[in-house]
Amino acid sequence: MKLWKGRFSKEATSSSNEFNASIGFDQRLYEEDITGSIAHAKMLGKQGIITIEESELIIRTLKEILADIEAGKVEFTIEGEDIHMNIETILTERIGQTGKKLHTARSRNDQIALDIRLYLKKETAEIDSLLEELLGALKDLAEKHQETVMPGYTHLQRAQPVTLAYHMLAYYQMFARDRERFADCLARIDRLPLGSGALAGTTYDTDRQFLADELGFASVLPNGMDAVADRDFALEFLSCCSITMMHLSRFCEELILWSSVEFGFIEMDDSYSTGSSIMPQKKNPDMAELIRGKSGRVYGDLMSLLTICKGLPLAYNKDLQEDKEPVFDAIDTIKASLGIFREMIVTMKVNEDKMAGAAKYGYMNATDAADYLVQKGIPFRDCHEIIGNMVLYAINHSKALDELTMEEFKSFSEAFDEDIYDAISIVNCIKAKKSEGSTSFASVAKQLADIDKA
Ligand code: ARG
Repeated sequence: MKLWKGRFSKEATSSSNEFNASIGFDQRLYEEDITGSIAHAKMLGKQGIITIEESELIIRTLKEILADIEAGKVEFTIEGEDIHMNIETILTERIGQTGKKLHTARSRNDQIALDIRLYLKKETAEIDSLLEELLGALKDLAEKHQETVMPGYTHLQRAQPVTLAYHMLAYYQMFARDRERFADCLARIDRLPLGSGALAGTTYDTDRQFLADELGFASVLPNGMDAVADRDFALEFLSCCSITMMHLSRFCEELILWSSVEFGFIEMDDSYSTGSSIMPQKKNPDMAELIRGKSGRVYGDLMSLLTICKGLPLAYNKDLQEDKEPVFDAIDTIKASLGIFREMIVTMKVNEDKMAGAAKYGYMNATDAADYLVQKGIPFRDCHEIIGNMVLYAINHSKALDELTMEEFKSFSEAFDEDIYDAISIVNCIKAKKSEGSTSFASVAKQLADIDKA
């Protein structure tokens, strides 16, 4: 039986019932829904809107219903439409008339806004701890690979030598900012919508601050129409998820490249790789590819909700029921991705020799050779040209820069001396960086130490 049946003279068809129902997916919010109802019942009792005995009976029964749901003893129905009316129906089946008083001074519109906010608060904390664990894994990798030299790239062309630690710490900073972003977003999720009623407030002498305190919200949303109508907090959450997925995806792209024979920088553990059904030799980095692919899914979730919200007149519209599946999907996807990604990077094997070997070739010390000439008093732009010519010569003679003879060096500039060999050794190129936040061994050690201090 519909809880809103009073005004209707005909039953819904089974197809319209099914189309309208959200219980298939919003049952995920059962705990938040009951937590919200318990606080609401407590407030109604305290304010004398219902009696203390009624309030206590409702609360006790809601707790029993929660336990029964958790024990798998409750079956939700399509007829009940959504999680709110399913639970209210069960409550009324158990305690009769008193159960019908729970919905006083409340609407499903403020109820669902509350449930989503409570749910996002919980999930944001879980995502934050997954990010924290990932940061721990990245820091471990960086600590271990402070001496592991590799090519740094721009345009995917070898650019300047760096250490693997430096590269890992670049990602560390990105994921650390992701945590900050979720924390900022949480500040706006953490506001209470309950007590707004359908859109205009209620005629009862409610206590919304009491509800906020009971439910652990930092503040009360000041406008009821806004509280039931907007989903900006969920959009902000989805955009935080999208940015984190973008960072993961970018990292995955590198791991996929690095595990190809062409790079050979890393090898994924067998447990995080898959084979081919036809090519016996294949070992594919499927986990990384899937995370890269799933980033598209989470962007889609963000786009869905943006599009759902864009044309809605105030206040609540049923379109907003469509907010839940994208939010749930993004949460499931980001949590699974963060978990598997961390496992993948802690188990992968790093081929230090391959990285060091790749750092030797590609003329990545050319900038350092130019800087050497700058120190000898030649303006940088001229040095750039001299070294450019020298690189072209070296390419044509199939030599690395440090394989040129002193005579060859001198033919490009008289300023070259024996100490050029030292100045352009790959390790010295790294060591010589002086700017704050550079790849030098000392700077990376400081970056690691600063993480500990933070
Ligand atoms: N199931 C609905 C949703 O998810 C709950 C709110 C329904 N409100 C209404 N006025 N029909 O948005």
